[in-house]
Amino acid sequence: MEPKDFKLAVLVSGRGSNLQAIIDSIERGELPGARVALVLSDVAEAPALKRASRHGIETRVVDPKAFAGKIEFNQAMVEAIQARGADLVCLAGFMRILGKGFIEAFRGRIVNIHPSLLPAFPGLHPQQQALDYGVKISGCTVHFVDETVDGGAVILQSAVPVLEEDDAGRLAARILEQEHLLYPRAIRLFMEGRLTLTGRKALIKEN
Ligand code: GAR
Repeated sequence: MEPKDFKLAVLVSGRGSNLQAIIDSIERGELPGARVALVLSDVAEAPALKRASRHGIETRVVDPKAFAGKIEFNQAMVEAIQARGADLVCLAGFMRILGKGFIEAFRGRIVNIHPSLLPAFPGLHPQQQALDYGVKISGCTVHFVDETVDGGAVILQSAVPVLEEDDAGRLAARILEQEHLLYPRAIRLFMEGRLTLTGRKALIKEN
């Protein structure tokens, strides 16, 4: 079977290393049929936008300040993504909580990566939270996005040891290496139709 045209919309706010990992994985042929159809940022200066442009990917800035309120801001993002016919919305360092209208528009088709083993340490500064708590193992999680903050069904996780000499930066860097491996794997599972959402569980079908 020919790989179909599977369109990703990637939402970013900053550096874009996870976006880069997705692009690189596509360029290495690991996600057959996939392409990034749109990179959307809520921050005009996000370095992720330059990464996208270097690969000839269409970008769009949706500045929340340009809208009357959150509903209108979310609606503008929904329209931009729907206009490109995205099959999957990937949050990659997108640092805003999505509104109900957005979640409803793409229910079951939004995924996020978070640098902790959820449900531990949701929200901001998860690496510092892990250090402050004193856990010996942290890591990263790719999960479906629902109305809760970092609370949707877990797709894949990777564990990373926390070292006594770690600070938040060092721990974040080691977790990030795993994020770059994990996110493309999760996208591939979705593309292959191997994920089933049952209650709060994402079940993975064997190949
Ligand atoms: C990544 O560590 C990602 O997991 C995290 O922000 C970083 C973005 O880096 N996301 C969150 O904390 C979301 N709650 P990147 O822009 O280089 O991909």
